Amino acid sequence: GKRGTLRNMKQRLLVVANRLPVSAVRRGEDSWSLEISAGGLVSALLGVKDVDAKWIGWAGVNVSDEVGQRALVRALAEKRCIPVFLDEEIVHQYYNGYCNNILWPLFHYLGLPQEDRLATTRNFESQFNAYKRANQMFADVVNQHYQEGDVVWCHDYHLMFLPKCLKEHNSKMKVGWFLHTPFPSSEIYRTLPSRSDLLRSVLAADLVGFHTYDYARHFVSACTRILGLEGTPEGVEDQGRLTRVAAFPIGIDSERFKRALDLPAVKKHVQELTQRFAGRKVMLGVDRLDMIKGIPQKILAFEKFLEENSDWRDKVVLLQIAVPTRTDVPEYQKLTSQVHEIVGRINGRFGTLSAVPIHHLDRSLDFHALCALYAVTDVALVTSLRDGMNLVSYEFVACQGSKKGVLILSEFAGAAQSLGAGAILVNPWNITEVAKSIEHALKMTSEEREKRHRHNYAHVTTHTAQDWAETFVSELNDTIVEAQLRTRQ
Ligand code: G6P
Repeated sequence: GKRGTLRNMKQRLLVVANRLPVSAVRRGEDSWSLEISAGGLVSALLGVKDVDAKWIGWAGVNVSDEVGQRALVRALAEKRCIPVFLDEEIVHQYYNGYCNNILWPLFHYLGLPQEDRLATTRNFESQFNAYKRANQMFADVVNQHYQEGDVVWCHDYHLMFLPKCLKEHNSKMKVGWFLHTPFPSSEIYRTLPSRSDLLRSVLAADLVGFHTYDYARHFVSACTRILGLEGTPEGVEDQGRLTRVAAFPIGIDSERFKRALDLPAVKKHVQELTQRFAGRKVMLGVDRLDMIKGIPQKILAFEKFLEENSDWRDKVVLLQIAVPTRTDVPEYQKLTSQVHEIVGRINGRFGTLSAVPIHHLDRSLDFHALCALYAVTDVALVTSLRDGMNLVSYEFVACQGSKKGVLILSEFAGAAQSLGAGAILVNPWNITEVAKSIEHALKMTSEEREKRHRHNYAHVTTHTAQDWAETFVSELNDTIVEAQLRTRQ
């Protein structure tokens, strides 16, 4: 089948994403230390085997001198990575500004930043220009490294202008674009001043992918309503040229989690955590500290649960891992203080001299510590206000082989469409409902827990990151073949 072909051919793939899957720290004038970092997108693509992939992206650091740049290029080459150098001003306008202050909130139905609407409107044009310039810089690096036969896979909202830049340079290049966030209803999307430019650029790709069918449908209706193009079951048609649009739900490398849980060091960690929280049920949240994750809402729901269930106060603990992210964007700074204030208030209210109800950590955990934490958790709380997919829910399920804990999951996460039958689905805005769901989860019979877990576990272990990537890449190849056939006929 398709996968077999892909394996034998060793498809060459250029993966282009804003951020490279490494964190780079400068050790000297010409030396760098690199660490592979794992985020949503990163852990998904780490699972891809049998494809000869290279990464192109920003290393997340500002390197203005040539010696440093050359050294970084060399160090990254060993990890199959190629850097795009962005200066501070571009990062400010493109990454902090247009990507994370405009597109990100809009795509998650949060609208433009609340307090600064007018300033955002005024800065819009210069930020959009920086966005286009940055996308062209990514395109230049792709063009330098592209060889005939390569497939170029562009990722996410940072690079919506990239397909057009690439196709203008070389119309034969096979270009795919995948969005890791939701694509919102066209009623929200059409408020964006640059709505048409971005749609037209994305349509220059041969294949456009989303996590869910709903996001794909929203995209097609944006194209029909805003550009007046024709939507077909296969995608969007513009003057006889078809851009394929489809849903490709991402997964995780579940084997990697299973293997980790078998390591003696992780087992020891599990034992320690079990002792540390003996006599209490463990509830867990793991999120980037982002407004889309609904962390304040989750904590308020937990407070309500404690309020209404006084007998549970010394029998349950909430561990919230909140990984700092995009800390130069004011909205994120505000969120951090808001969360700290709520956690402090609740711990003051329900804490005792020996214990507090919420352990809140402003940092990430290493992979093994995270696996151990997932494994000892009784109830995981994923309460995103909107989320493209949400792989924390998948990772939790993958680590629950023996415990068979409960997943409380927002109906506004893409994952609700795949794990909905096993999870308790909630509207994260409804704190009363979430508090009731916490109670339900904590009191659930083992039969119900096992049944729900079985459903989710089967899904997570059979819909992996590798399947996702292989399906997208082989479909991208097929799409091109079809397009060529059509012109020959
Ligand atoms: C989301 C986005 C990714 C992004 C990640 C981390 O998952 O879809 O593209 O890399 O967040 O955010 P950051 O701004 O730190 O790259």
